[in-house]
Amino acid sequence: MQDIFDAFESGEKKILVRSCNGAGKTTALAAICNWYLSTYEDSIVLTTASSWMQVKRNLWGEIRKQARNAKLYLDEKGNQLKLGETLIKLNDKHYMIGISPRIPENAMGFHAPHILVAVDEATGLDREIMDALMGNLSGSDSQIIMICNPIDRESYPYEAEQSGEWKVIHISAFDHPNVENGNENIHGAVTREWIVDRLKSWSFELKFEAAEFARMIHVKWLDKWFRKTAIAQARILGEWAQLEAAGFIPLELIQRNLMPTLVPSSQPSKVRAIGVDISRGVGSDATVYAYFDVYDDATPDHQLNFKVFYDEDLMATADRIQREYESCKAEGIQLIIAIDDTGVGGGVTDKLRQEEIDFHPVNFSQKPKGFFPRKDIANARAEMYFLLQQELLDRKLYLIDNAKFHQELSSIHLDISHVNGSFKIESKEEVRKRLGHSPDYADATALARYALRLEALKNRDWPMLMGL
Ligand SMILES: Nc1ncnc2c1ncn2[C@@H]1O[C@H](COP(=O)(O)OP(=O)(O)O)[C@@H](O)[C@H]1O
Ligand SMILES: [Mg+2]
Repeated sequence: MQDIFDAFESGEKKILVRSCNGAGKTTALAAICNWYLSTYEDSIVLTTASSWMQVKRNLWGEIRKQARNAKLYLDEKGNQLKLGETLIKLNDKHYMIGISPRIPENAMGFHAPHILVAVDEATGLDREIMDALMGNLSGSDSQIIMICNPIDRESYPYEAEQSGEWKVIHISAFDHPNVENGNENIHGAVTREWIVDRLKSWSFELKFEAAEFARMIHVKWLDKWFRKTAIAQARILGEWAQLEAAGFIPLELIQRNLMPTLVPSSQPSKVRAIGVDISRGVGSDATVYAYFDVYDDATPDHQLNFKVFYDEDLMATADRIQREYESCKAEGIQLIIAIDDTGVGGGVTDKLRQEEIDFHPVNFSQKPKGFFPRKDIANARAEMYFLLQQELLDRKLYLIDNAKFHQELSSIHLDISHVNGSFKIESKEEVRKRLGHSPDYADATALARYALRLEALKNRDWPMLMGL
């Protein structure tokens, strides 16, 4: 925080802060807004953030709280002026205002000798609104401060940093006083416990000898090493997320979850999940079937060998699924089926419906079902892969050893939608361009895991749904 305040006070015109979560970014930004408005009598402070909710609740909640506590903005009688929800107006030419990031028109046409533009969660803002805000900064004493969590390289702050024109301040959670000292003196901010907890969900432990040095995070108080995944990189280290370089499901994670040579004996499974990725009929594409035998909570589910068929027409595929379903039933195994219903897959699902087979059609571009406790997942395909990744991090699966499958899975890329900043998975077509074939083994596997969630949703099996 001191670094941010020093840069600001020294008059730096363009300041970019990129930081981990919970470092005190919003708190620092609010302090700067209040300081500026109280210091310059001819000033306008324009504030915005990634959404109107962020502006109103977070940034302005903090601005109002600080203004009240510090008894700022008093009238002649020493009473505090009314602090509006997103407006503090001292007079017509001296005020601070919250601006919606969705209405660039409202961000234009401000004139004053001193203008401050303050932007929180800046990676979530469109170029249009940033350009509109920057347009107000012609005055010689104007400043802009942009604060962000560096999750998205397709963003204004990333370009700003690359341009070399901005003073950049970087905050890693490991540098925060709470974390350095192992206490919680700054209540509500990052702690060692938070880092360890987040590394469990966002990363996984590695042996130091096992991986490249540069892609690892060292936790000094545990003396352990973790994979520097994109999300851990941005949210913990405050570094620009490297989505391209870091496979979403890295090879080390796959290898850690391989079927052990000696599997502890367990009761035969009564439930089997199957995911069918239907061939698009392009080049060497195949229809791929992936399977998991499902066990109790204490035992990871076992992946079985893939079945792969080339050049089968949709009717033959539907027949095959029906036969599998019936033979499992005869053996007393419940088969839970998810079928890729995108495009040509629709032919198969129509046929199965006629035969009254229970299955879950999945259209990859449909909305996520909300299985994963985050709102920034763009579609069902991304949700499938987030679930698969989480199950691997949680050691819930034993995967089979199949080189092509591992290659596909480890080269799945996480992408960020340019429309609304939500996460998606690189499309089949993009992967095909890169790998030369589409990721059918990986998709079938993700579908088989998704089948279990869809079934639990159908049966309102809450423990299963919550069991992330
Ligand atoms: N210097 C500080 N003194 C006391 N509390 C602070 C300080 N900085 C941050 N906090 C508290 O830490 C928490 C996280 O701060 P916040 O500004 O919301 O972080 P960020 O925006 O980086 O996620 C908040 O509860 C805030 O009140
Ligand atoms: Mg914040």
